[in-house]
Amino acid sequence: MALFGSGDIGMDLGTSVIHIVLKGKGVVFSESACVAYERETRNVIAAGDRAKRMMGRTPRDMEVERPFREPHIRSFDLVNKMVNSFVRNFIKEWKMGRPRLFLALPCGLTPTERQTVIEMMVDAGARTVVPVDESVASAIGAKIRIDQPYGRMNVDMGGARTSIAVFSMGNQAKWRIDEFGGDRLDAAVMDYMRRKHNLIIGENTAERIKIMLGAVRPFDQTLQEEVFGRSLISGLPRGLIVNSDEITEALQPPIHDFVNVLHRFIEQTPPELASDIFDAGITLSGGSARLYGMEEMLTEQIGMPFHVADEPELTVARGLAELISNPDAYEKINLGSPYKEDEVIG
Ligand SMILES: Nc1ncnc2c1ncn2[C@@H]1O[C@H](COP(=O)(O)OP(=O)(O)OP(=O)(O)O)[C@@H](O)[C@H]1O
Ligand SMILES: [Mg+2]
Repeated sequence: MALFGSGDIGMDLGTSVIHIVLKGKGVVFSESACVAYERETRNVIAAGDRAKRMMGRTPRDMEVERPFREPHIRSFDLVNKMVNSFVRNFIKEWKMGRPRLFLALPCGLTPTERQTVIEMMVDAGARTVVPVDESVASAIGAKIRIDQPYGRMNVDMGGARTSIAVFSMGNQAKWRIDEFGGDRLDAAVMDYMRRKHNLIIGENTAERIKIMLGAVRPFDQTLQEEVFGRSLISGLPRGLIVNSDEITEALQPPIHDFVNVLHRFIEQTPPELASDIFDAGITLSGGSARLYGMEEMLTEQIGMPFHVADEPELTVARGLAELISNPDAYEKINLGSPYKEDEVIG
């Protein structure tokens, strides 16, 4: 007997982290969107957090990839193996039968790419797949009333990308996908360490340093941390102390570019919607919204009120959980994706 029957599940297929939600239980599965595989055979050795820990540590014949990182999918086989193992194991572990799957896909995929991933989900055990636009799920999870005849705006700053959307009457009135996100910030930290300290550091180290010391405005007290990498000069491993002022400086260029993108986006938003948004404020979601000082800096630079959603990295997953639990409440909302490829900038 199936424990949860063939009920509904929700899946946030993020470019960095994949979450699965169950009705009444919230987020019950979170793993990195990573796969480790053998170069020659393309056999998957590990998926999820275990694969992420291997990043930068694999022998020559192995590789770790985040298959949703690029704007378009290059390795369909790896996507398939990764989602198949997650979904199949999940369904088995929770004794689900064949559940209906509410699926939030990374923004910017072409209709063909979306369809291919949806078919992979059916292969992995889903009965049917209901695609939900990532921006819509994120706004619902951030508790924004997007069904009202007023302009509302959500900015989801994730790993590889940021999606900006203005909603009114259950539809996306305006949107933009930008390549700002955690990856770009990690790259800025790596670049800074190389230029200023002649130190080559790995992606996981850059991310850890960004999370510990990164800010968009200085902390009240300067924090510091030891960073290990490879010296460009001696070629040998070396550790050095970096402080939060340096990392804040390192993050400036991509942050500055993103402020300009937001500025232009708001300038081009029709005035009635823009004035509603000014009254209600702009919600920030996605893991990168956790960067210290983001809310205050944007409020100051853009001149409109911003606020970070609770547990911002979980808004998409929570939006899916809400849809599964109260489907009738969202009947008037257009859950699907407008085709957004022409809006991707890089
Ligand atoms: N406290 C923090 N400070 C700064 N960045 C953080 C923090 N916590 C997580 N991040 C960053 O958030 C990013 C992941 O965010 P999130 O989980 O929203 O991405 P995703 O949903 O997988 O990606 P996307 O929405 O682009 O598909 C990572 O780059 C991570 O480094
Ligand atoms: Mg996301």
